[in-house]
Parts: sequence; C-alpha cells; structure tokens
Amino acid sequence: MNTIGIIGAGQMGSGIAQVFAAAGYPVHILDIADEKLAAGVALIGKNFDRQIARGKLSEAEKLAALGRITTGTQYTAFTQSDLVIEAATENEVLKREIFKTLVPYLKPEAIVASNTSSISITRLAAATDRPGKFIGMHFMNRCR
Ligand SMILES: NC(=O)c1ccc[n+]([C@@H]2O[C@H](COP(=O)([O-])OP(=O)(O)OC[C@H]3O[C@@H](n4cnc5c(N)ncnc54)[C@H](O)[C@@H]3O)[C@@H](O)[C@H]2O)c1
Repeated sequence: MNTIGIIGAGQMGSGIAQVFAAAGYPVHILDIADEKLAAGVALIGKNFDRQIARGKLSEAEKLAALGRITTGTQYTAFTQSDLVIEAATENEVLKREIFKTLVPYLKPEAIVASNTSSISITRLAAATDRPGKFIGMHFMNRCR
C-alpha cells in the first residue's frame, strides 16, 4: 500500500485519514463540498494538537502528517490509489452510487473498503466491478 483514498471527511473519514497520515501514508480525502473537507482537516489538526499536548506527537510530526493529506471533490484523484476506504453517510443507496462512480477511475489491483456500520458488505461489493477486492473495514470511533 502506498497511496490511500478516503471518501467522506466526517467524523470517521477524517479520523481514518489522520491515522494513515500519521503512519506515513499519502492520503487523499474526497467529499461533496470544500467546506466539508476543510472541516475534516480542521478536526484532524485539533486531534493532532491533543496528541501533542499529551506528549504523543511533536509539532514537526503533526506538520509532516498534515502535509501528506490532500483533499478534493473529484474522483480522478483516485487513479493511483492502492486502497480506497469509503466512510460516507450510512445510506446504502448513497454508498452504492459512490462505488459505481469510483470504480472506473481505479487501477485494476486497487482494493476498495467500506467503513459501514450495518450495511451488507456483499451487497455493497456487488455495486463494484471487483467483489473479490472489496472488504469491510470497520474502524472504531474512540476519544483521541
Ligand atoms: N461515527 C461512528 O461512531 C462510526 C463508527 C464506525 C463506523 N461508522 C460508519 O462510518 C461512516 C461515516 O460515519 P460518520 O460518523 O463519519 O458520518 P459523518 O456524518 O460524520 O460523515 C459523513 C461524511 O460523508 C460525506 N458524504 C455524504 N455523501 C457523500 C458523497 N456522495 N460523496 C462523498 N462524501 C459524502 C458527508 O458530507 C460527511 O462529511 C458510516 O457508514 C457510519 O456508519 C461510524
């Protein structure tokens, strides 16, 4: 895995992006509007600041991690992604539409994941061209 894509810049998408960026991965986050993306990145910054206050992260590490995050509203940004994790609103119709839009842009070997809490992974996978490369990846929302 070299390049990670995240769809949805809300509570979970921003947290997942934060974890990957802190671990050294370039991350691209997509959402429906620039304001959503700005709010997501602001939340990541706040979470990093909390980690700095607790002595778990340095200012330099925070800046480096933030520097690994890019954002946008266009799916063309995912053409080089090795893994794209969907963390958009919990709605099956919406998620299926997202996957249908996403897959034409992906490399054949790219893995697609959903952070859904309750929707069938099998049904979501069926909305893609790669059910064999589709996984459920349920991240926990915990206080940072
Ligand atoms: N919040 C939790 O505790 C938690 C825990 C585990 C899993 N989840 C799951 O994670 C997913 C996201 O939950 P959340 O709490 O982050 O929700 P949220 O409401 O905080 O964020 C959802 C984001 O999805 C974006 N979005 C909506 N439609 C979109 C589209 N068409 N394309 C791209 N982005 C779109 C919204 O603008 C918003 O920024 C859900 O499937 C949820 O069930 C949530």
